[in-house]
Amino acid sequence: MSVISFICCLLFIITISQASAQPSFVNHFCLSDKGRFTANNTYHTNLNTLLSNLTSNTGIDYGFYNLSYGENMDKVNAIGLCRGDVKPDECSSCLNNSTVLLTQLCPNQKEAIGWYDKCMLRYSNRSIYGVMETSPLFYLSEITNATDVDQFNQVLGNLMSNLTGIAASGNSLRKYAAANATAPNSQTIYGAAQCTPDLSEQDCNSCLVEAFSRITSCCIGNISGRVAAPS
Ligand SMILES: *[C@@H]1O[C@H](CO)[C@@H](O)[C@H](O)[C@H]1NC(C)=O
Ligand SMILES: *[C@@H]1O[C@H](CO)[C@@H](O)[C@H](O)[C@H]1NC(C)=O
Ligand SMILES: *[C@@H]1O[C@H](CO)[C@@H](O)[C@H](O)[C@H]1NC(C)=O
Ligand SMILES: *[C@@H]1O[C@H](CO)[C@@H](O)[C@H](O)[C@H]1NC(C)=O
Ligand SMILES: *[C@@H]1O[C@H](CO)[C@@H](O)[C@H](O)[C@H]1NC(C)=O
Ligand SMILES: *[C@@H]1O[C@H](CO)[C@@H](O)[C@H](O)[C@H]1NC(C)=O
Ligand SMILES: *[C@@H]1O[C@H](CO)[C@@H](O)[C@H](O)[C@H]1NC(C)=O
Ligand SMILES: *[C@@H]1O[C@H](CO)[C@@H](O)[C@H](O)[C@H]1NC(C)=O
Ligand SMILES: *[C@@H]1O[C@H](CO)[C@@H](O)[C@H](O)[C@H]1NC(C)=O
Ligand SMILES: *[C@@H]1O[C@H](CO)[C@@H](O)[C@H](O)[C@H]1NC(C)=O
Repeated sequence: MSVISFICCLLFIITISQASAQPSFVNHFCLSDKGRFTANNTYHTNLNTLLSNLTSNTGIDYGFYNLSYGENMDKVNAIGLCRGDVKPDECSSCLNNSTVLLTQLCPNQKEAIGWYDKCMLRYSNRSIYGVMETSPLFYLSEITNATDVDQFNQVLGNLMSNLTGIAASGNSLRKYAAANATAPNSQTIYGAAQCTPDLSEQDCNSCLVEAFSRITSCCIGNISGRVAAPS
């Protein structure tokens, strides 16, 4: 029950904040246990430099941004990823908005991550490139039962397993797959799977398998479910 009320609460917040000018994240985490910085120290200015470079970079049209800036203890690493079906201009606008919002929401955390509907932004003082991470993780579900749950789940499982294989075998710039399948009662099921493309095929596969197992445990039998994690 606490999971359900958490989701309801989250959806409620999203509905309300859509009315304000700055669209809000679907979810974000300020990872305070990974360390803090003091305002205007070297880490902070490096972070600002890095994020302004990320938003001014117009040379990327495949939706994946991977940057580092600074030296030693003050080095900042960032990854930006857009959903695989998002066009480059929308992608850079989404990441631009993310840099503003994430630094407002997490004003002194060295590590933070935020998700809009169309993109994800994360940064850390650790090296995060090529490291598979499934935590922190969150999910959203539409709590309306599918009809014919067993057949729905079987088609869904096949679809997601196919998409996992296709996404994982993508290249170092893009690991994304989307498709639909028809359940026996002619409902259409839409699916998408994506990893940050810095992962190996094997890590991407493990990540998506774990993510889908979490969807299965939270949202099984419901007509929609979405799960997101750093990788
Ligand atoms: C990141 O910052 C934390 C907290 O300040 C520190 O303990 C950790 O060693 C730093 N990591 C790196 C790779 O510098
Ligand atoms: C940090 O720098 C900004 C802009 O230069 C300034 O407005 C702010 O007061 C400074 N904060 C601290 C704590 O020094
Ligand atoms: C991402 O950053 C890593 C570490 O700095 C670097 O080795 C790699 O070439 C970069 N990849 C891309 C696609 O920019
Ligand atoms: C940021 O962009 C400026 C101007 O394009 C460039 O001189 C600088 O090297 C970039 N820094 C990083 C960390 O990419
Ligand atoms: C990024 O956002 C800022 C403020 O939200 C805006 O002024 C700027 O034009 C945006 N830049 C791009 C490239 O969209
Ligand atoms: C970025 O924010 C502006 C308003 O602040 C909004 O109009 C725009 O749609 C946002 N872009 C994306 C891709 O969410
Ligand atoms: C949805 O499915 C669950 C589990 O199968 C069941 O307990 C519940 O009564 C169903 N709700 C509706 C509205 O059919
Ligand atoms: C999954 O892939 C197999 C083999 O390519 C195909 O026969 C099957 O129809 C696919 N299933 C779905 C639900 O996409
Ligand atoms: C489902 O996928 C097929 C094949 O990719 C595509 O032709 C079709 O338009 C899609 N159906 C819907 C309803 O989006
Ligand atoms: C839909 O999800 C809710 C919350 O996770 C769960 O209680 C319910 O049983 C699910 N519906 C079905 C048909 O399993």
